[in-house]
Amino acid sequence: MDRHLCALDCGNAPCSDPNRIVNMNIKPAADHPHRQILVDILRQFSFQSVLEIGCGSGVNLYNIKQTFPNVSIYGIDVSSNAIKEARKNLPEGSILEVGDASDNFCFPDKSIDIVLSDACLIYLNQKNFKKALKEAKRVARVGVIFCEFHHVNFFVRLAFRFLVGFKHKKYNIYNYEENLKRAGFNNIKIKKLTDKDWPHSTIWKIFGSIIYAIFGKDES
Ligand SMILES: C[S@@+](CC[C@H](N)C(=O)[O-])C[C@H]1O[C@@H](n2cnc3c(N)ncnc32)[C@H](O)[C@@H]1O
Repeated sequence: MDRHLCALDCGNAPCSDPNRIVNMNIKPAADHPHRQILVDILRQFSFQSVLEIGCGSGVNLYNIKQTFPNVSIYGIDVSSNAIKEARKNLPEGSILEVGDASDNFCFPDKSIDIVLSDACLIYLNQKNFKKALKEAKRVARVGVIFCEFHHVNFFVRLAFRFLVGFKHKKYNIYNYEENLKRAGFNNIKIKKLTDKDWPHSTIWKIFGSIIYAIFGKDES
């Protein structure tokens, strides 16, 4: 078993490179503190299905199934290796397919209660990021939850891109408040992650946030 950890230090196998997803023991990754926050946010809502875009080897979906056994889980990932691993890690009946977060998802409008992403939208350029938000909005019935890089200040985002971006050039930081509003979301909540939520990672400490928007009755 390859014991390399993900460059994002989420306890996961190295997942930003689709060909390096390897067999892993899911438990250490499942215990990463930020994942518990995602589960705690989910506890507040009534839902029967979750789709994770960029689900990797299925660690969040595994936690969700452990906590909410009756919920149906769906995952897409651009990496076929990731989907292969997720199929090993998740119970039969889970729907796991290769798919791109910025393509049309193969799900009808309002067909999944919660659409989730965790460290996936950071890989999308602006055009694809906007397409992914639009698709998440189309498919989700109850709301969306994202754990991604967020910052409201344009100059901070610019400084990141030009000063330190060379080291992390594959990552994108967006102003989720602005982009979610533009995509038609209301009731947007943003919880900044702390050092405790994502230990040993300066970039997650500065930019890591959980962003969620739950639809009101008039939107569903
Ligand atoms: C850092 S990993 C996170 C995996 C998982 N969300 C987790 O928290 O364990 C990022 C994942 O996003 C996937 N990914 C990157 N770009 C994607 C895209 N355009 N569409 C779908 N998945 C993508 C990668 O293949 C990888 O599995």
